[in-house]
Amino acid sequence: MFPVLASEALLEVKDVKTYFYTTTGVVKAVDGVSFTLNKGEVLGIAGESGCGKSTLAYSIIRLVPPPGKIVSGEIYFEGRNVLKLSDESFRKEIRWKKISMVFQGAMNALNPVYTVGDQIAEVLILHKGLTKKEAYNKVYELLSLVGIDPKRAHSYPHELSGGMKQRVMIAMALALNPPLVIADEPTTALDVVVQAQIMNLLKKLQKELRMSIILITHDLSLIAEIADKVAILYAGKLVEYGTAKQIYYNPQHPYTKGLLASIPRLKGEITKLEWIPGVPPDLRFPPPGCRFEPRCKYRMPKCKEEPPIIEIEPGHYVACWLYAKK
Ligand SMILES: Nc1ncnc2c1ncn2[C@@H]1O[C@H](COP(=O)(O)OP(=O)(O)O)[C@@H](O)[C@H]1O
Ligand SMILES: [Mg+2]
Repeated sequence: MFPVLASEALLEVKDVKTYFYTTTGVVKAVDGVSFTLNKGEVLGIAGESGCGKSTLAYSIIRLVPPPGKIVSGEIYFEGRNVLKLSDESFRKEIRWKKISMVFQGAMNALNPVYTVGDQIAEVLILHKGLTKKEAYNKVYELLSLVGIDPKRAHSYPHELSGGMKQRVMIAMALALNPPLVIADEPTTALDVVVQAQIMNLLKKLQKELRMSIILITHDLSLIAEIADKVAILYAGKLVEYGTAKQIYYNPQHPYTKGLLASIPRLKGEITKLEWIPGVPPDLRFPPPGCRFEPRCKYRMPKCKEEPPIIEIEPGHYVACWLYAKK
């Protein structure tokens, strides 16, 4: 769907489908998603709650929880199809070392009975075989890298603010210096000032460490300043992809336009907030064709069929019948 120079590609996700086999039906949480992430790039993935963002992230790091399963597709990392690796090889060679993740809500999952230093050290001891002393030297380094006083290594999670706990989670994700970090809604539970600080931190780290980041959010406004590329996910499918500039200044898909119109403008005059009427479909019974069709004010009979993917300008793709040549 999104061709790039092969030499620059770090991650290629090709037509990945991940379904949850529940007792009440098959939830098609990720249903044919494809994109490419280049080395050193920040890709923002945005969409409403329930559209499959976390499931997509779990698919890439191969931690889809039961009753979920990656049913088809390919995921290439540094040119290797990592879905073909055994669980053990993936755990040894890829997870944390090559691809790490800051899980949604993870700051509240820090173990209350261990210091944060011990928890970061554990990653280093487990994966790199460092001694506790060696690991702690790295812990101090990592904490200062994420803007925390290294002395805080000896604090317990409850002694830290939400923003600091989230920085600890980021430090943990960086522990093995992976080329790709996936951050799933890393600032959702934080107030706006701290949200901005964490976003700035991610941007700074990305520049310093030259890593790639996939930044997942339900709030499109959050990633405007940090993402190079933006992908819009709706009901398990990508509907638009382009550079951040293309998506923010020249959105094409009616859903992307709706999402952008619903962002309150902090500067300038207050404009009426528009929201897209209706709710996203039940992913057990998604509508045939374009999944946004039932909510779309531009819908036409053709939209009952799968929309084509159209390159509207170089590198800017949209899955919508509106732009199909008659
Ligand atoms: N463990 C699970 N069991 C069954 N359904 C799930 C599970 N996790 C997620 N889902 C369903 O998959 C869809 C996508 O969820 P998720 O990936 O968490 O979305 P997002 O992160 O965008 O909010 C939702 O319909 C959700 O109910
Ligand atoms: Mg999620």
